[in-house]
Amino acid sequence: MKLTSLSSVVLLAGALVRAQCPDFTEYAQTPQGNPSSGPLALPFMRPSPECRTFNSTAVEKVITDMKARLKDPDLARLFENTFPNTLDTTVKYFNATENLAFIITGDITAQWLRDTANQFATYFSLLPSDPALKTLVKAVINNEARYVAQYPYCGSFQPPPESGLAPSFNGAAVGVTVNPPVNNQTVFECKYEIDSLCGFLKLSRSYYNVTKDASFMDAQWYSAIDQIFRVINEQSQGSWDANFNFISYYNWTGNNAQSPGVANGGNGEPKAYTGMVGTHHRPSDDLSTFAFLTPANAMLSVELGNLASILTKSGQSKTAQGKNISVLATTWSKRVSDALWDNAVENNVFAYETNGFGGRYVMDDANVPSLLSLPYLGFLDKTHPAYVKTRSVLLGRGNPYFAQGQNFSGTGGPHVDAWNPWPMSQIASIYGTDDDAEIMQRVYLIANNTAGLGLIHESVDIYDSASSYTRPWFAWANSFFAEMMLDLAQRKPGLIFKTDTPYIPGQ
Ligand SMILES: *[C@@H]1O[C@H](CO)[C@@H](O)[C@H](O)[C@H]1NC(C)=O
Ligand SMILES: *[C@@H]1O[C@H](CO)[C@@H](O)[C@H](O)[C@H]1NC(C)=O
Ligand SMILES: *[C@@H]1O[C@H](CO)[C@@H](O)[C@H](O)[C@H]1NC(C)=O
Ligand SMILES: *[C@@H]1O[C@H](CO)[C@@H](O)[C@H](O)[C@H]1NC(C)=O
Ligand SMILES: *[C@@H]1O[C@H](CO)[C@@H](O)[C@H](O)[C@H]1NC(C)=O
Ligand SMILES: *[C@@H]1O[C@H](CO)[C@@H](O)[C@H](O)[C@H]1NC(C)=O
Ligand SMILES: *[C@@H]1O[C@H](CO)[C@@H](O)[C@H](O)[C@H]1NC(C)=O
Ligand SMILES: *[C@@H]1O[C@H](CO)[C@@H](O)[C@H](O)[C@H]1NC(C)=O
Repeated sequence: MKLTSLSSVVLLAGALVRAQCPDFTEYAQTPQGNPSSGPLALPFMRPSPECRTFNSTAVEKVITDMKARLKDPDLARLFENTFPNTLDTTVKYFNATENLAFIITGDITAQWLRDTANQFATYFSLLPSDPALKTLVKAVINNEARYVAQYPYCGSFQPPPESGLAPSFNGAAVGVTVNPPVNNQTVFECKYEIDSLCGFLKLSRSYYNVTKDASFMDAQWYSAIDQIFRVINEQSQGSWDANFNFISYYNWTGNNAQSPGVANGGNGEPKAYTGMVGTHHRPSDDLSTFAFLTPANAMLSVELGNLASILTKSGQSKTAQGKNISVLATTWSKRVSDALWDNAVENNVFAYETNGFGGRYVMDDANVPSLLSLPYLGFLDKTHPAYVKTRSVLLGRGNPYFAQGQNFSGTGGPHVDAWNPWPMSQIASIYGTDDDAEIMQRVYLIANNTAGLGLIHESVDIYDSASSYTRPWFAWANSFFAEMMLDLAQRKPGLIFKTDTPYIPGQ
């Protein structure tokens, strides 16, 4: 009794302290700590220690190591603010005993499968040296396995009931009907985007790759994998059957200021079988024009290959839908990749979307997976002629969503609008080149355009880059910038460091 009441006093004290913590969306909109000593004078923007949502000494060491090496104090400050942002601000719930963690995207209290996988991508090399971080990631995978096993068509979720956190109201889901139906106490938004499922696979294989711990592959995880193959089977089919019946396994109807209606009974534009897997919405959560999203299928092919690999390496390949999962994953990985090369590429230029009837939409959208990010996704090498040519089209007037202003440029998308390119598109572009001058030019396009706040935003207005941007608190964008800086630390140390010695975290 005594112990219980003592620990509840301690818990209460912790909760009281945290209750006084500022909302990070507000906090991130004005400069906080001391400015960096470079010309950009970027403020220190980490929350105060008692307000951080997860502490990791391994993460602090990487920050110290990078600050000691980076030659530009402004880039050092940007790294210091962005690298820990996911752990500092988005671990809304974590209970190791329950093996559950709830990770929010930032300014919206919901967990996106896609965002989470990318928010954590920059921390994987630290898992072997930080057991608590390893336990956290395993808990994230477990929470997601539960979501995917139940609602494989959805991409964004509510807190687990164990957390005691109230579900968030989603204005964009009001008046929308989803088939199969979903419960809004579990699902935040059920837009079907195949790359969300790829995010779950990426998180799982990244965790296994660095820990060799296969204990997350429990019955619930296999059930999630089974559901992923169900979606792949359903959404690879053409819209018309032999008798002109319209095939629909999932549809999304309704109309809402934030989420316009979807044509053809909530099914979108018809598609013909290719071997690729269709999707309804893009990684930006905007409606797809054509169903076969090239970058999402590229990611799917890569992640199915990785799935086969971790199952084989761990000796854990069970059966799904009566088939050996490793074999099934390898078969689909190749089928998707073959279909992609057959349908999406013309004269070495990838279309962003195709429909299987010959329809092609040459453009790029800013969210990853994007065409610019194909090398980052692991689909092809940045020197592949089809990537080189596609990239040159996309980073200029050949891309309807490329925009350039006095200070900032890049790819945007209809999610914000055509004149608000996203820093994330510049980060993806840096992964796609070995040209030193171009890399540094893009790094500074990003660094120069944080509205003086030292955090990475969703989009920047080309007509008013000094003060007009969207999403003050977007954890994935921060993590992606830090991940790119750590990639340069290995790939091109002399560009950003005082010396040319590579730096690899956790080594
Ligand atoms: C992180 O450490 C600080 C002390 O430096 C503490 O006040 C805070 O509660 C810790 N956060 C968590 C989630 O444990
Ligand atoms: C974690 O969950 C277990 C099981 O529900 C519970 O007994 C324990 O109090 C929780 N721990 C914390 C710190 O909330
Ligand atoms: C769930 O849907 C019901 C019915 O539309 C609505 O009244 C309620 O506000 C929704 N709850 C959340 C958390 O969105
Ligand atoms: C919507 O999807 C459901 C299956 O979830 C299906 O039964 C129904 O026929 C579909 N409706 C349309 C208009 O496609
Ligand atoms: C596995 O980890 C190594 C070292 O961190 C990394 O280079 C490699 O890309 C990872 N592979 C996969 C499939 O995650
Ligand atoms: C599944 O196939 C893989 C790769 O061929 C093989 O290593 C594994 O033993 C098979 N597993 C089962 C359960 O048949
Ligand atoms: C960034 O700003 C500096 C001035 O602080 C300027 O010299 C440089 O050209 C800018 N770089 C880019 C890519 O805009
Ligand atoms: C470009 O940056 C300068 C310096 O911050 C600013 O004064 C100017 O308004 C910016 N131009 C545009 C079009 O955003």
